[in-house]
Order: sequence, then structure tokens, then C-alpha cells
Amino acid sequence: MKRFEATAKRCADKVKEERKVQLISHIDADGLASAAIVTKALKRAGIEVEVDFVKQLDKNVLERVARSDPGVVIFTDLGSSMLQDIARCRFTSVILDHHIPPGMDSESLEFEFHMNPHLFGINGAYELSGSGLAYIFAQEMSEDHENRDLADIAIVGAVGDLQDKKHGQLVGVNRQILEEASRIGVISYEKDLRIFGRQTRPIYRMLQYSSDPHLPGISGDERGSLDFFSNLGIDLKSTDGMTWRRWIDLTRGEKQRIVSRLIEHCVNHGVEEVDRLIGEVYTLENEPVGSELRDATEFSTLLNSTARYGEAQVGLEIAMGDRCEVYKRSKELLREHRRNLRAGVNFVRETGITVLNNIQYFNAGDQIKETIIGIVAGMSASAISKNNLPIVAFAKCEEGLKVSGRAPQSLVKRGLNLATAIDVSAAHVGGFGGGHDIAAGGVIPEDAMNSFLAILDDEVGKQIK
Ligand code: C5P
Ligand code: C5P
Ligand code: ZN
Repeated sequence: MKRFEATAKRCADKVKEERKVQLISHIDADGLASAAIVTKALKRAGIEVEVDFVKQLDKNVLERVARSDPGVVIFTDLGSSMLQDIARCRFTSVILDHHIPPGMDSESLEFEFHMNPHLFGINGAYELSGSGLAYIFAQEMSEDHENRDLADIAIVGAVGDLQDKKHGQLVGVNRQILEEASRIGVISYEKDLRIFGRQTRPIYRMLQYSSDPHLPGISGDERGSLDFFSNLGIDLKSTDGMTWRRWIDLTRGEKQRIVSRLIEHCVNHGVEEVDRLIGEVYTLENEPVGSELRDATEFSTLLNSTARYGEAQVGLEIAMGDRCEVYKRSKELLREHRRNLRAGVNFVRETGITVLNNIQYFNAGDQIKETIIGIVAGMSASAISKNNLPIVAFAKCEEGLKVSGRAPQSLVKRGLNLATAIDVSAAHVGGFGGGHDIAAGGVIPEDAMNSFLAILDDEVGKQIK
């Protein structure tokens, strides 16, 4: 940990010498949260920041940045996969990334301003997110703890990357940040039902739309969900009959009855890992009760619905605390995002998932946007897939075919590392990739899907043998 903090300090000291900084970040919730934290910390230090968001860091992006004569460039939530290319650039780079550095060799350690948890024995898939790294960096930017209040957004980023999924709660460095957030009162946490929509959805919709875990006879089934509550004698509407009751409107006793019946229901229907229903939930204490910003998971979904649709500035401003015009816009984007996710999962249900020896896949062509194909892949794995294989999804993109993979935890335990499997297989067909052991992605040439699949199928087989 000492060496890790020393690196953070070195990075911050370098940035403090500057008056103007360019920041490049990733277009997902964690990338937005990371950028918001660093931007705020720099502004408080009197440093001007220009922020740009990219789908992924490649040579084109680096060339574009170089042409703008940027001074110091900070990369958040990306960068580690491009160390060699970054080293060749004439500008100074500070990299705050939590994706597995390919090779994990001395070269990644030698890079002077490179913070990556994997180099310090911390797993970047669940122990520290990009936003958590940004938070640690931000603490070094100020001597009097003025950046501690950014801890809530650090938690939003971690939850947006599903870092709490493995253990049903945040662990590792994420947990240290959580405890700090709770101490200063910006976040509270408790054990509860871990289903999306606690703050905003009518309870029957919350269960009906649950894809992770999939609730047999309830998920995707409005009648089934309504029946579940009427059998339990739970009122769906407030006493005046005017509003739908949300999870936060229920009494403790009602919640307990629902949870026990839900667990019983899932056990009776053979749902695996029923204990995943219960776990920690995170509440942003400074946000209005019943808003999508109050719950960390809902907040992160709101962020995803901006940057993944080319409106990163909206998400950035929200993550930085703006609650005026952009907030209205973000709610429209959120509705659109939810529609797209539902349509995406329906597309997969209709076209089906093809099963190979060690993986399963579907190709969405241009039917699902490449920036959300990974989310749809994850949702389809729990909602549709009948087996426990890694799921790989394809969608057309400008550069060829976007690949997105999600793996079950049980296979990661047996040695699966989807980041290296996808990286190696993509390289064979002239593409590239990376990410985490449990979730990874890449880009391959448009006509290379079948050869890529054959290699990946093999590679995954070797890893879990
Ligand atoms: O690029 P980045 O690290 O920010 O994104 C991590 C991705 O991994 C997210 O899209 C997240 O949804 C996914 N993930 C997952 N299942 C997990 C952990 C992460 O699908 N258990
Ligand atoms: O895009 P998707 O959500 O499938 O990405 C899963 C994980 O793989 C993310 O952490 C993402 O940053 C990473 N990834 C990567 N290189 C790519 C594509 C995705 O490291 N070319
Ligand atoms: Zn991330």
C-alpha cells in the first residue's frame, strides 16, 4: 500500500506543476465518475482542465491528443493497455487505470506516472475501480482533505463497474473508500435486497424488470409480478391510492416478508446462488430521496445513459454536482437507454445464443449499439442463457466488429481470465482487446468473427482445464 500511495503522490506532484491539463477518460459510468473526481480536484487546485471521452484508447486518439499540444495528459479508467504507444508520445502522461496491463511486466512498473492496482497486488476488477483510483489521486492533490467529499462519486463509479457483484458488497480498497464516505456522511450502506430500482421503481416493476438475478415467473412477466405481491397481501399503492409504492416506501416488516418469500420462490425454482439476492446497497445521503441519484446503482445507470450515447458532457456535469438543465436531459436519456436495453435483450431472446464447447455467443450486427452491447451481453447471460459458459457478443462498429465478453464467477475461480483470452484471440485475427478477468472486450476485423470464435473457444478451454 505504501508504494501505491507513493505513486499517487508522484502523479499528483507532477500535475500540480501544471496550469492546464488535458484529461482523457472512458465513456462508461466509471469513466465519467473518474473524470468528475479528477476535474473537481484540479479545479479546486486552480488548474484548468479540458476533458475528452473515448470508447477506447487507440493510436488515433493518441495522435489526436498529440496534435493539440496538450502539456500534461491524464488518462483515467484507461491507458494501461497502451503504455508503449503512450511512452512514445512527446507529451507527459499520467495514467490512472485499473484494467489488466498486458504483460504485467517491468515496463508497466517503470512508467513513472502510472497508477494501476494490478501492479500492487490489488485486483482492479473488484478491489478498486477507476473512480477509486481517481479518488486516491485527488486526496494527494490537496493537503487539507478538501477532496474527501468526492467519495460518493467514487462509490458510484465502483458500483457502475459492478465491483460489488462478486461478494455482494464492496471489498478491498473500495471498502476503505466506502468507510471514509460513510464516516463523513456522504454515503450510507446497509444489507438489503439487491435488485435495481429501490428508489424510483414501483415495487412490481422492480421485480418484473429484474434481470440479475432472473426471477422465474416474475422477471419479464407483469402478471407474475403483480400476483407475487397480491399473494403476499402487500399493497402496491399508497393509502390514498394516488402513487405506486416503491421499495423505499415499504415498512421493514413488509420488506422482510417480500425477501423471505422471494428467496423461497427462487429456491423452489432452482435458481442458483440465491444468496446473491441479498447484499449491500449504497445510498447517496446528499441526494433527494426517491431520485435516481440517491442509489449508487441507479446513479451509475443514469451516467451510462449519457456517455454511451455521445452525451458525456451531461453525465460529467451531473457527476460533478450540476442538478439543473442537464439533469432534465439525463432523465430523457435514461428512458431511452432503458428502452434500448429492453429491446437488446428481446433481440437476443428472439435470435438466440449459439453454444460452442467452452463459450456461447450472439451477433447483434447493427441491431444493438456497440457502446451498450456489453451491458446487453451481461443481462442476457442471467436472463436468457441456460448454462454457465462465458458469453461473447458482437456488434458492428466503425473499426469492424466490437467484441464484449462476460464470464461467470465460477469459471474465473477455475482460472479463466477473459481479458487475456480475448486479447490473445483478437491479436490472432488482427484485432485487440483487454479488460478484466470477469468482463472484457475488444475489436476485430469485420470478417474475422468465426476464426476469432474458434481461437477464443480453444483459449477459454485451455484456461479452465
Ligand atoms: O471498463 P471498465 O472497467 O470501466 O468496465 C467494467 C465492465 O465490466 C462494466 O461494463 C461492468 O458492467 C462489467 N462487469 C461485469 N460483471 C462483473 C464485473 C464487471 O459485467 N462481475
Ligand atoms: O465494452 P465492454 O463493456 O464489453 O468492456 C468490458 C471491459 O473490457 C471493460 O472494462 C472495458 O474497458 C474493457 N475493454 C478493453 N479494451 C477494449 C474493449 C473493452 O479493455 N478494446
Ligand atoms: Zn472502470
